[in-house]
Amino acid sequence: MSDLEFLFNPQEIAVVGASASPQKIGYSILNNLILSGYPGKIHPINPKEKEILGLPCHSSVGKVKGKIDLAVISVPASLCIQVARECGEAGVKGAIVITAGFKEVGGEGLKLERELQAVGKKYNMRLVGPNCVGLMDTHTPINASFAVGFPEKGTISFISQSGAMLVAILDWSFQAGLGFSRFVSLGNKADLSEIDFIESCTADPNTKVILVYAEDVTDGEKFVRVCTEAGKIKPIVILKSGTSTAGAQAASSHTGALAGSNRAYDTAFRQSGVLRAENMSELFDLGRAFSTQPLPGGNRVAIITNSGGPAIIATDAIEKSGLRMARFNKPTIDQLHDNLPAESNIYNPIDVLGDARVDRFRFALQMAFEDENVDSVMVILSPTAVAEPEETAKTIMEFKDKYPHKPVFAVYMGGKTLVESKGILLAGSVPTFTFPESAVRALEGMVRYAEFRRTQDEAPSTLLLPPQVDKNTVKATFYDVIKDRRVLLLAHESSRVLDAYGIPVNCTYLTTTADEACRISQEIGFPVVLKVSSPRIAHKSDVGGVEIGLHNRREVEGAYKRIMERVSRYMPDAPIYGIEVQKMVDDGVELIIGMSRDIQFGPMIAFGLGGIYVNLLEDVSFRLAAALNNRKTIEEMIAETKAYTLLKGYRGQKPADMEAVIDAVYRTAQLVQDFDEITEMDINPLRVYNCGATGLDVKITISLD
Ligand code: COA
Repeated sequence: MSDLEFLFNPQEIAVVGASASPQKIGYSILNNLILSGYPGKIHPINPKEKEILGLPCHSSVGKVKGKIDLAVISVPASLCIQVARECGEAGVKGAIVITAGFKEVGGEGLKLERELQAVGKKYNMRLVGPNCVGLMDTHTPINASFAVGFPEKGTISFISQSGAMLVAILDWSFQAGLGFSRFVSLGNKADLSEIDFIESCTADPNTKVILVYAEDVTDGEKFVRVCTEAGKIKPIVILKSGTSTAGAQAASSHTGALAGSNRAYDTAFRQSGVLRAENMSELFDLGRAFSTQPLPGGNRVAIITNSGGPAIIATDAIEKSGLRMARFNKPTIDQLHDNLPAESNIYNPIDVLGDARVDRFRFALQMAFEDENVDSVMVILSPTAVAEPEETAKTIMEFKDKYPHKPVFAVYMGGKTLVESKGILLAGSVPTFTFPESAVRALEGMVRYAEFRRTQDEAPSTLLLPPQVDKNTVKATFYDVIKDRRVLLLAHESSRVLDAYGIPVNCTYLTTTADEACRISQEIGFPVVLKVSSPRIAHKSDVGGVEIGLHNRREVEGAYKRIMERVSRYMPDAPIYGIEVQKMVDDGVELIIGMSRDIQFGPMIAFGLGGIYVNLLEDVSFRLAAALNNRKTIEEMIAETKAYTLLKGYRGQKPADMEAVIDAVYRTAQLVQDFDEITEMDINPLRVYNCGATGLDVKITISLD
């Protein structure tokens, strides 16, 4: 775990650029540090001043007698390098560079940022920013930022790539009654990134949940590794903005078109147990839920309500989510029946009716909390004339304390009349919502995370043995393709690559004479298919370049001549490399195994229903190739698709060869990890039988560099 104690709990701090002018940022930082109650020593640095805000001032960091752990730098960009050097010379461990005018402005700014990085490296001084607001820790306490105010003490850490977002959330948090352990503004991430702070907040005993606002991830591979480990200890929720489909639009393969960078983020987050929030309110709903509630034991929810409509909305939302409506056990139903009015619904949702006072809610709460078929409880209250929202709020809190292992959420549907009762609930650490859908989403996030934790606790699936492969053949094939100034492999070349990796493929042979085509057909066995081979002809059938169902030498010979004749007539300028020969194969379940390479996260494998409707059906699951090194992950990936139902044997069909599918996915993942030059790949369809499988159409694109 990264140890950034010198940032969050330093002994001595220097504020370089501290100012006596209250309009200046250097003043705010100093003032914030003092007001936060920071217990260590503060040294304002300013060559013109003797004292600022009652603290003795030095002309440079080097003049300070003590050992400074942290420097907060707020001088113009042109002075930053010199100041950073002085800090380095003085043995400062970390510097928060508030100053703007670096990478974000390009040109000279970028150069300046590189210089700053070099200074940090030279002196082993870690950098936060530049172009950031600073950071805070409410438990130290320390406010090394120029934000307005200091958050309430709490257990949420918020790491933000946007400084503006951080100050906005801080301001909102006072009104929302949300407490924080840490606030971090990342700025340009010249050195320390979200990954370092996720590690540090994971190790922080005062943080229960880590929230991140990110525009990008600095190092995809490290991010996945760190988050997977951190996620075993505490939940990480990320709002990733700037999701773009540009990559997907530019892709030429099916997989590439389905993937795109947004999907890569989704896949990487899911694999590492990170919850992805759709928007800011969901990010903080989850923050509040995780910081106040225990993890649910399962996905079964009980709803207690005094109003039918909102309960139906909640039920609908639950049914659409990964949650389930709990089915109460018999004693619960009997007791509800005996004690609630005859008109009440005693099955889930428990409708205590519009005339319910607190006593009915209390009884229903007791029943729901005690039923072992219930994993979490949601109370939905509408402010009828007889409702007792404040009393009910206190009762909910009572049950929360009495049953600390079951989460409870409140949906108080209304505004004006519920201000006080909502305040009671929030102060009592009960996540409280105005509408049911957001409560359901937050609860679902908790359930998903709890599930991730459970799977991490299970014994890890054993790694698959490295497959026997022939890398030299793949290398030689790519060499020939590049020599031919192409990036797209021809069918016989793709088939050679797959064969070298033991991925089942209906081998394609390139022949240059009719005689050779006959000989190969004889060898592989009739019936066969003949196709023209030319880098200029993508749609072979359109130019009469394909003949199928050839049963003997005579038919092959005839087909060879006809294809040559038609193609040279329709496309006289296209270079013809020869005629491909392939064995005709039987029908089977058609799958796709594909790969698209993401700029951040590397090769990502797609699996699903294949054939020509791939993009229409979108029955595809994704995993980063690096994760497909064990059976369990591959099986889970397959099981997520509808193709899985077909493979198991749909409507009386015999089950397909699952082992062959697992092996093909595994070997494809190995191939694309071994060869960075493969940019995109589709095996579509991979036809699967009761015994064995074979790739029929394989498209591999490589990069020229
Ligand atoms: N060591 C210490 N202090 C120095 C110094 C040095 N070598 N050289 C100058 N100073 C002092 C200045 O004299 C001044 O103090 P004063 O008020 O007593 O004169 C103080 O440092 C600040 O310098 P100044 O030139 O007044 O700059 P500024 O305060 O107007 O602006 C920044 C400095 C960093 C705030 C500004 O350059 C900046 O980057 N602003 C944007 C910040 C931002 O938006 N960050 C990202 C948020 S998301």
